[in-house]
Amino acid sequence: MWAIMDLFDLTGKVAMVTGSTRGLGETSAKALAKAGADIAVCGRNPQDLDRVSTEIKRMGRKSQGFELDVLSKEKVKKAVEQTLNHFGRVDILVNNAGTNYRVPVLEYPEEQWDLIINTNLKGYFLVAQAVVPQMLERGYGKLINMSSIFGKVGLANQLAYASSKGGVEQMTKVMALEWAKQGVRVNAVGPTYFETDMVKQIRNDPARFNFINERTPMGRWGYLPELEGTVIFLASKASDFITGQTIYVDGGWTVW
Ligand SMILES: NC(=O)c1ccc[n+]([C@@H]2O[C@H](COP(=O)([O-])OP(=O)(O)OC[C@H]3O[C@@H](n4cnc5c(N)ncnc54)[C@H](OP(=O)(O)O)[C@@H]3O)[C@@H](O)[C@H]2O)c1
Repeated sequence: MWAIMDLFDLTGKVAMVTGSTRGLGETSAKALAKAGADIAVCGRNPQDLDRVSTEIKRMGRKSQGFELDVLSKEKVKKAVEQTLNHFGRVDILVNNAGTNYRVPVLEYPEEQWDLIINTNLKGYFLVAQAVVPQMLERGYGKLINMSSIFGKVGLANQLAYASSKGGVEQMTKVMALEWAKQGVRVNAVGPTYFETDMVKQIRNDPARFNFINERTPMGRWGYLPELEGTVIFLASKASDFITGQTIYVDGGWTVW
């Protein structure tokens, strides 16, 4: 007989979170650690890898930083091998590493298109392709793809970003269908604006900051702790019969 909170208990699980050196990735990694998981912290900056993994160890979990650049298939392969050698397995993968560049379509530089699509979309595929086989062998895994409200709705100046996130939501459905009978659940989280480095410029521009408040039914940006419950839910037993879905954590933005 399960105690109800056991549904959310991640004790003994190993989670790998890409781009967990700051922002929503760091928040997600620490949320999973709070729920009991050990954490492979992944990103490009060694100092941030040390900082986040040290903070997670202080929470009483095992944690180790691994250098990972999702733009390189070789580096992805190496980071996943190092993670598997260190922890023995990965039960939960959060594909989160991402970037953005905002200008109108007709001015959009091709290099920025390539960078954003390769990071936000191809990067998720490469990491999943490296991590998921050992999940399938064990018949268990939870994959969480960090999407955005712009996976569902559009906004001017978000050409490559919205295209990448729309792709992430389709990728989530295809992966979910392929692995549904083999114990691997694939879902996405679609946040609205949360204060991180990625949106610092927007946060500091009163007109754009207020536009977001006014556009959001709840009238404000998200607070980082408000992302934690959804990430834990999708990583946990509580969501075992859910796959291929996106949960929007958006104060109602995508409702209209
Ligand atoms: N903040 C928001 O309002 C918001 C809303 C919706 C969705 N999201 C999504 O949430 C995710 C995280 O965004 P954020 O706001 O937390 O951004 P952020 O603060 O800029 O952090 C981005 C993270 O991704 C990592 N990263 C970027 N390119 C990488 C690469 N090539 N290889 C490995 N790691 C890389 C960064 O690592 P480095 O330190 O090495 O650069 C950093 O850890 C993204 O997928 C984003 O689209 C954010």
